[in-house]
Amino acid sequence: MAKQTEAIRAQGPLSSTRRGQPLLQVRDLRVSVNSRMGSYDVIHGIGFDVVAGEILGIVGESGCGKSITMNAVMGLLPSNVRVTSGKVAFRGIDLVQAGEPLMEQLRGGDLAMVFQDPMTALDPLYPIGDQILEAIERHSGARGNEAREVAIEALRSVGLSEPEKRLSQYPFELSGGMRQRVIIAIALCCRPSLLICDEPTTALDVTIQATVLDLIRELHEQLGNSVVFISHNMGVIASLCDRVTVMYGGQIVERGTVDEIFYQTAHPYTKGLLACMPTLETPREEPLVPIRGTVPDPRSQVVGCPFSSRCSKRMKICMREMPPEFVLEGQHSCACWLCMSEGLSSELLRVPPISAQISKEEQR
Ligand SMILES: Nc1ncnc2c1ncn2[C@@H]1O[C@H](COP(=O)(O)OP(=O)(O)OP(=O)(O)O)[C@@H](O)[C@H]1O
Ligand code: SF4
Ligand SMILES: [Mg+2]
Repeated sequence: MAKQTEAIRAQGPLSSTRRGQPLLQVRDLRVSVNSRMGSYDVIHGIGFDVVAGEILGIVGESGCGKSITMNAVMGLLPSNVRVTSGKVAFRGIDLVQAGEPLMEQLRGGDLAMVFQDPMTALDPLYPIGDQILEAIERHSGARGNEAREVAIEALRSVGLSEPEKRLSQYPFELSGGMRQRVIIAIALCCRPSLLICDEPTTALDVTIQATVLDLIRELHEQLGNSVVFISHNMGVIASLCDRVTVMYGGQIVERGTVDEIFYQTAHPYTKGLLACMPTLETPREEPLVPIRGTVPDPRSQVVGCPFSSRCSKRMKICMREMPPEFVLEGQHSCACWLCMSEGLSSELLRVPPISAQISKEEQR
């Protein structure tokens, strides 16, 4: 283990020459939940890269597997959830095989995560200073006054006033926005090469959300590190990210650059997510169109496309076979039969519109 962490230290901070190279490579990741009824998959063999220096957005409705995927990367899955197959390569180390002692070394050092609720990440029994100093001492080797100076500077860099005073305060003495800044300061004072933000602004009010997003963007520009940003909010993703991965039912259904996803949207699900998003041009009286129906229960066996029960474009083949990921132009790809360039012959027969079926279900 020492050899591996030394190897990472020797690589040092991400230099400009390594920018654009994959920093994290996830391959065929499968995650299962163990329950009294047996085990079932919640992530179905997904793969993606995070490139050095980029901000990758992960979007999708609640329950589609965004957090489980990134918690699997961090080695932070709940006890009843486990990675059953696949590889997560981070700077030459397979994190699935790494074991807890090495993961502890990496977390909060080269790999850091900011969660939705800052209270879950801070210990209410200890002052802020103890928690930030512990992270600095553990991961940077700084001690005593030197570590204290790093802590004060980190709190100042995230815009907290009177940082010296904050060190002796307890989490409950700070507002939600201040606590989230502390978490970001803790995550960043160790200069992680990969920062994972899991809906870091959802629990904050709108004005604080904008400030925290600006902070993540500024610090990313300063450090040149990679960020994975999980969100429900397509507007936030558009303003912050370089590339976007769209998840549905524990699978990746579309991916591409922000422009490809927003201006050449291919997957009916992504179109649905965008239709729910107000823009400056949306007339106030025009209602937003939610995606009808709900995400599939992961315990049920889904045959074919996981979106087929909600998709107004579905065809016969959709209910029989899971679409492969079709490569479109540039970095764009989409797992939908509509993207198959050759004809689907008789399989192209449409089935009755899904809206009629959903209305009947809703009336029950
Ligand atoms: N500890 C757990 N035990 C059982 N099932 C779980 C557990 N954690 C997550 N799941 C299930 O795994 C699936 C993916 O959950 P996940 O938390 O990754 O969704 P998400 O996309 O992050 O949603 P949200 O936007 O609400 O945070 C869901 O069906 C969820 O119910
Ligand atoms: S594969 Fe079929 S059901 Fe799935 S999104 Fe495409 S058209 Fe809709
Ligand atoms: Mg989540």
